[in-house]
Amino acid sequence: MIDRGTIEKIKDAAQIVDVVQDFVSLRRTGANYKGLCPFHQDNTPSMIVSPAKGLFKCFACGKGGDSVRFVMEHEQMTYPDALRYLANKYHIPVEERELTSEEKLLQSERESMFVVNDFASKYFQNILQNDVDGRAIGMAYFRSRGFRDDTIKKFLLGYSPADKYALAKEAKKQGYEDKYLLATGLCYETDKHTVHDRFWGRAMFPVRTVSGRVVAFGGRVLDAATKGVERKYVNSPESSIYSKRREVYGLYEAKSAIVKQNRVFVVEGYTDVISMHQAGVENIVASSGTAFTPEQIKLLKRFTSNVTLLFDGDAAGIGAAEKATKPLLREGMNIKVLLLPNGADPDDFARKHSLQEILEYITQNEVDFITFKIRQHLKNHGDDPISKANFIKEVVEAISEVPDEITRSVYIRQTSDLLRERESILLNSVIKKRREIVEAEKKRKEQGAENTAPAPLPNNEANTPQEGIPLPTDEIGIGMETPPDFPPYTSIPGNESPKSTTSPKTRVFELETLIMRELIRHGEQTATEMQEDENGPTISISVIDYISISMKQDELKFNTELYNEVLSEAVKQQHAVDGFKSEEFFLRHHDFRFSQLAAEVLTDRYQLSKMYSKDGGKKQKANDNEIGNRLEHLMNDLKLQVLEEEIKALDMQLPALRNDFEKAIEVMKKRQQLKEIQRMLAKQLGDRVRS
Ligand code: CTP
Ligand code: MN
Repeated sequence: MIDRGTIEKIKDAAQIVDVVQDFVSLRRTGANYKGLCPFHQDNTPSMIVSPAKGLFKCFACGKGGDSVRFVMEHEQMTYPDALRYLANKYHIPVEERELTSEEKLLQSERESMFVVNDFASKYFQNILQNDVDGRAIGMAYFRSRGFRDDTIKKFLLGYSPADKYALAKEAKKQGYEDKYLLATGLCYETDKHTVHDRFWGRAMFPVRTVSGRVVAFGGRVLDAATKGVERKYVNSPESSIYSKRREVYGLYEAKSAIVKQNRVFVVEGYTDVISMHQAGVENIVASSGTAFTPEQIKLLKRFTSNVTLLFDGDAAGIGAAEKATKPLLREGMNIKVLLLPNGADPDDFARKHSLQEILEYITQNEVDFITFKIRQHLKNHGDDPISKANFIKEVVEAISEVPDEITRSVYIRQTSDLLRERESILLNSVIKKRREIVEAEKKRKEQGAENTAPAPLPNNEANTPQEGIPLPTDEIGIGMETPPDFPPYTSIPGNESPKSTTSPKTRVFELETLIMRELIRHGEQTATEMQEDENGPTISISVIDYISISMKQDELKFNTELYNEVLSEAVKQQHAVDGFKSEEFFLRHHDFRFSQLAAEVLTDRYQLSKMYSKDGGKKQKANDNEIGNRLEHLMNDLKLQVLEEEIKALDMQLPALRNDFEKAIEVMKKRQQLKEIQRMLAKQLGDRVRS
């Protein structure tokens, strides 16, 4: 345990420029330094190093922090290891705090357990590689699964002999105590007090901590023996070093690839990880058959916030993907889902396809989790309104788990687009649900505060960062977790968090009001005439119908709620009322809001701008129906304006997404689509004016 005083000394000594310069060449710019960021593919120097503040920050990928953080990120080290690295660089003696005798005992117990695990892992590997049976049975099995030699070595795969006491005997011979064989669960005690191997006759998959030490094993029965066997895998029991909910299989082998690509694939099984890794998809880990726990997700989050769930496309796989989303969302992860062709698990898939095919399949088929959920829903329930209502509730609940407001709003917009549901309605439900979640959280915290005893230290907290050294509870913050977040550089423009100020929608409001003006003044008149076919009868479309149809076509609603009410009232009443005259009808309307609006638009408080007036048009229009032409223009302009607003809203999201490459790309794509529609609309408008 490094004591606080030493940590201070190390941090004081470590000069950020000096530390970074060991890995990246820096150029001075004014008071700061600049360099190529080592944490993403940087083409222009995006990383700023501030000696005054002792901080680095990349303005492209968002990584930033002090010198300890830099070493952690660059070398993929834990916090204590980074401190030791810096201590060494600056010749600071590390005074590891004197442990109490109880702690010492626990430390040496845990250390001994790791030592025994390490022995066992080497033993199983040795049997696999060199023993006659090991080769004939174990190696043959791995070969039949298509595992290469280098893969087998990389994942420390082994074979546990069929002799039920083989490991116990060898351990005794080499002087390991039974006590630790039992504590790690490598062996168990029978009724007759003999020490019996747990994994006899199995193919061995060691589970490693994030820093690479063997903390547990999974043992798989061989195929020949699978029939009639209850449990395909036997796993190490929980112990003072191993807690299943805290370890992520494959993370040690995957972490540098995860950081480089800034995303991680999550599969279910050991063999899925190994086969995909062997195929070249190295940023892959397994949840080991269950949904991820918050602890596992926090561990992953040290390396990336982007998760792609990679599951079999069968019902079980879809179910697993569904189950995995909530806890991931809650920890602020961005989720994509990739389903494999029905019946293929990632292991099969990896063996049957080249890396290029795999990568192609990924890019073509992965979808964000909202799209995934909605597709599944539509597939199962189609348009059924009742299940749709339930489904929306479910989606709202999921979105409400997302801690970040901007991410939530992106999901809401997307849901609204895909489900054709009003964004404002979804937003309100999410706000309500979110409030409940935050309240519940607060209550839980308050109750926790009354109960002043610190949360019990999870069993193996120590094994991840500190390799078996127990952490007293009051030092968890220092020894265990990553240091506090990097404070934002407020002095550098573009890094301020965006304020989501909704622009005063004056232009949209103006257009909507002009449309109301047409509706109230000329509602019952003909806006345009239509012929179903050449000889068919002409149908005349009233101004009211024209507006209504045109709005529906593009799934538009007026921003001003009153106007929506006016429109639906007009649609309803135009045929119900004899000799319906829009102007009169609204002027005399019993609803005061309607009559007031009518009075306003009739007294011309809202003047038509030149563009819409008779002689303001640049050219004589094709259609000689003046009202119709005006209306067409107004509607198109409104649509353009709405698009404009949506694009602006997207633009406002972008600065906050600087840490989230994937999401930023999504936003950019959406923006491009909107731009395209906008261009088409504008062209249409231009063409009509010209023709
Ligand atoms: N698992 C487990 N115990 C079991 C079954 C499964 O711990 N009795 C975990 C293992 O981590 C396993 C994962 O759940 O890797 C996924 O299970 P499954 O798909 O059945 O295993 P695979 O590893 O794919 O096994 P194989 O392809 O060899 O049949
Ligand atoms: Mn499998």
